[in-house]
Amino acid sequence: MSQRSKIIVTRKWPEAVEKILTEKYDVVLNESDTPFDANKMREALTSADALLPTVTDKIDSSIFEGITPSVKVIANYGVGYSHIDVDACQSHGIVVTNTPDVLSECTADIAVTLMLMAARRAGEGEREVREGRWTSWRPNHLIGHKVSGKTLGIIGFGRIGQEMAKRAHHGFGMKVLAYNRSTPSDAVLQACGASSVISIDELMGQCDFLSLHCPGGDANRHLINEERLKLMQPHAFLINTARGEVVDEAALAQALQSGTIAGAGLDVYEHEPKVHPDLLECENAVLLPHLGSATKETREGMGFKALNNLDAFFAGQPPHDRVV
Ligand code: DGY
Repeated sequence: MSQRSKIIVTRKWPEAVEKILTEKYDVVLNESDTPFDANKMREALTSADALLPTVTDKIDSSIFEGITPSVKVIANYGVGYSHIDVDACQSHGIVVTNTPDVLSECTADIAVTLMLMAARRAGEGEREVREGRWTSWRPNHLIGHKVSGKTLGIIGFGRIGQEMAKRAHHGFGMKVLAYNRSTPSDAVLQACGASSVISIDELMGQCDFLSLHCPGGDANRHLINEERLKLMQPHAFLINTARGEVVDEAALAQALQSGTIAGAGLDVYEHEPKVHPDLLECENAVLLPHLGSATKETREGMGFKALNNLDAFFAGQPPHDRVV
């Protein structure tokens, strides 16, 4: 019998996927679900044939210093891969894959959840009920902002941005304006009920809600900064389900406190799981713990996608979701 490839999984994965991984490969699972530190990551990179990391694993160029990796493929569990230095991987001859498509709908659903929660003050209301502070129905109680029919701006019009646009346009009758680095085709825009704008600055002042769906990483670090927040309307809301580093959190907290914008809904943070202390003080911010893809269907789908990429790699085929 030929020797099975050794793979290391850095976090606990859905049981259905771990079962198949175990049947096919010589697998080291992470039963305790404790995140790897740098030493453990180096040990994994030098002892296995494949590594299966997630967003909580920082694989930057410093991790490769002084080691000769045995790993030949990194099959990331997630679509975003700004936590992986793909150039460093490439220079070590390591193939990197991700898991697009399967999480687009659920991530868009969470963006809609945040948009509605922030606009309708659902977080504040929930806290009031649970803390026994609700006194009675009254005409001026927790008055929010109507969502239906308003204008939604989208930055990053890939698969998730398009799903968000469809929900907003077809579900809530919203006008959708989309900014993307490369101009989306007319057919895509039409299917999503969206029009495209040519610059982010042009978009900022036109929308009632702004939802971020672009990649993270250095290229988009603090894309939304103090200057850009000031271009938004005072009744507008910022929604971020993309990556924390896209928003300057200190500037956002300041904008929320000073009334530069009306509110925010965040699922991702610059230094997860830490949240900027000033944001925690903002009643007008809805804060979720990175739940975008957190449904049984999607988390299993992500696992099976990573598995397919791994299977293709070890069969000598091009993995479907190869990043480098
Ligand atoms: C993704 O797939 O990018 C999710 O945010 C989890 O990392």
